[in-house]
Amino acid sequence: MTPVDDAVLVVDFGAQYARLIARRVREAHVYSEIVPPTLSAAELIALRPRGIILSGGPKSVYETPAPTVDPAIYDAGIPILGICYGAQLMAQQLGGTVARTGRGEYGRTRLRQTGSSPLFVDWPAEAEVWMSHGDGITEAPPGFVGTASSPDAPVAAFGDPERRLYAVQFHPEVVHTDRGADLMERFLHDVCGSPAAWTHVSIIESGVEAVRAQVAGERVLCALSGGVDSAVAAALVHKAIGDQLTCVFVDTGLMRAGEADQVEETFRRQFHIDLVHVKAADRFFAGLSGVTDPEQKRKIIGELFIRIFEEVARDLGAAADGTGAIGAPRFLVQGTLYPDVIESGTGAAANIKSHHNVGGLPEDLDFELVEPLRLLFKDEVRAIGEELGLPHEIVWRQPFPGPGLAVRIVGEVTPERAEILRAADAVVVEEIRKAGLYRELWQSFAVLPAVRTVGVMGDGRTYAYPVVIRAVTSDDAMTADWARLPYDLVERIASRIIGEVDGVNRVALDVTSKPPGTIEWE
Ligand code: XMP
Repeated sequence: MTPVDDAVLVVDFGAQYARLIARRVREAHVYSEIVPPTLSAAELIALRPRGIILSGGPKSVYETPAPTVDPAIYDAGIPILGICYGAQLMAQQLGGTVARTGRGEYGRTRLRQTGSSPLFVDWPAEAEVWMSHGDGITEAPPGFVGTASSPDAPVAAFGDPERRLYAVQFHPEVVHTDRGADLMERFLHDVCGSPAAWTHVSIIESGVEAVRAQVAGERVLCALSGGVDSAVAAALVHKAIGDQLTCVFVDTGLMRAGEADQVEETFRRQFHIDLVHVKAADRFFAGLSGVTDPEQKRKIIGELFIRIFEEVARDLGAAADGTGAIGAPRFLVQGTLYPDVIESGTGAAANIKSHHNVGGLPEDLDFELVEPLRLLFKDEVRAIGEELGLPHEIVWRQPFPGPGLAVRIVGEVTPERAEILRAADAVVVEEIRKAGLYRELWQSFAVLPAVRTVGVMGDGRTYAYPVVIRAVTSDDAMTADWARLPYDLVERIASRIIGEVDGVNRVALDVTSKPPGTIEWE
C-alpha cells in the first residue's frame, strides 16, 4: 500500500462494517482505504492519513481474542473517529469504562445531546440513530467529555477536541441514522480537514495519469466480456493511451442476446477503439460437445478462452514485427475492483474467487497487469462509466458469469439449446426491465434444464423443454434471496416465452435462496 494524498483509513474489525464506512467516506468525496487492525501505529502513520476511523465489528471488547489497534496511534496527532466497536475499544484503551449493561440496544433509538461536539453541528437536541451493541460505555476516558446519550447508552458519544479523538456508539454509516451522513462530513471535512476532492472527474484524471505512467509507449491488451468492469476499464485506458490499446472480444456463442453487437457498437463505432472480435462459437461448441459435467464445462471454456486470447496476442505481435508499429502487447488490462482486492487477503475468499475467475485470464500469462479500477467500489465504477460516456445498458448491466450461458444450460451445451436459452433469457430481461425491476435485482435470467415434459398446444401434444426463471436480490452474491416478482409479471414472462420461443412448453420459477442454492444452476 502506498500513501495517497488526503486519504482516510478505515480500520477493519470484521464483518462488513468497514466496507460500508469506506463507501460512505467516498460518498463524502474523500478517498478512503480499508486497513487491517494488525498494522502498527508506525505503519499507519507512514500512510500519512488525514484521519482514521475505527469500524464496528462483531466481537465484544471483552472477548479474547478481540481485535485491537496499536494504542500509540492515539498520540500521533491524527484525528480518529471510533464507531460502535471502535468507540468501545477507544474507551477501553484510553481508560474509560465499558460495561456489560445487560441491556443492549438494537435498532432505532433516540439520541439526546448532552454536550457540544463539532460532529453534531446543526443537529436537533434529539435525533433518531441506529444502534447495535450489547456492551455499553458507562464512563468516557479521562480528558474526554460525553456529548450524547440514549436510553440504554449513557455515553453514546464522547470526544476530546484537543486531541481530535471522537467516538460514537451508534452507526452513522447506516441510512437509518438521521443525519449520519452529516456527521461523517463534519468529521472528514471539519475535524480532519480533508477537502471534498475525490470526485468522478478526479478519479478519471488520476486513473488516466497512472495508466500513462505505467505503460509509457507500449501496446496494451484488454479482454472485453460485455460486463461493466472490463468495459469501464477499457474506456478509461483508452482515454489515457488511445490507439495503444487493443481490445479483444471473444464471442463464445454463449453470450446474452445482443451482447456482441453492443460491444461492436460501443467500442468500435462510438469509441473508435481498435477491437479484435473473435467469432469462436464453433470452437466452443465443438469443445463442449457431449460434455455434461458442470466443472468439466467450466474447465473447457476457461482453457479455450485463454488459448484464443494467446493466439490473438501472438498475431498482434507478429503483425507489428518489422512494420515500425508498436510491437507485441506487454500489458493486460484487468477490471479488478476494490472488494476483490480486500477479499484476496483471506484464504476463504481467495478460494471463492478462483472458482469465479473461470472465463477470466490466469495470472501466469506473460503480461504485466494494468488494473485501473483496483481502488474503486462498484458504484464508483458505474459512475465513472457514465462520466466516460458508456451506454446505460452496459454501465448498469447485471453480473454475468465468465462461462456465460453454459452454466445455465443443464446437460449438454449445443448451439440449438444455447439459442433456446438466449431467446428465453431475452424475454426475461426485457420484461424485468419494462417492469422497472432490472436495477434492483442482483440478477435475473432464464435457465434451461435437461429434461423435457409433456404439454398441449392447440390440438397437439408437445414434448419440449421447460425454462426456469431465476431472479435474486443480493448485495454481494455471497448470499441471495429469491426475488418476489409480481405474479402478473411472472405470467407475462411465461406466456411470452412459451409463445415466442420454439422448443419450450413450460415455465417454472426458482424459489430457492442462497444458501442452500447457488445463484447459477451449475
Ligand atoms: P453462484 O452461482 O456461485 O454465483 O451463487 C455467485 C456469483 O458469481 C457468478 N459466477 C461466476 N462469475 N465466472 C464468473 O465470472 C464464473 O465461473 C462464475 N460462476 C458464477 C454468478 O453469476 C453470481 O453472480
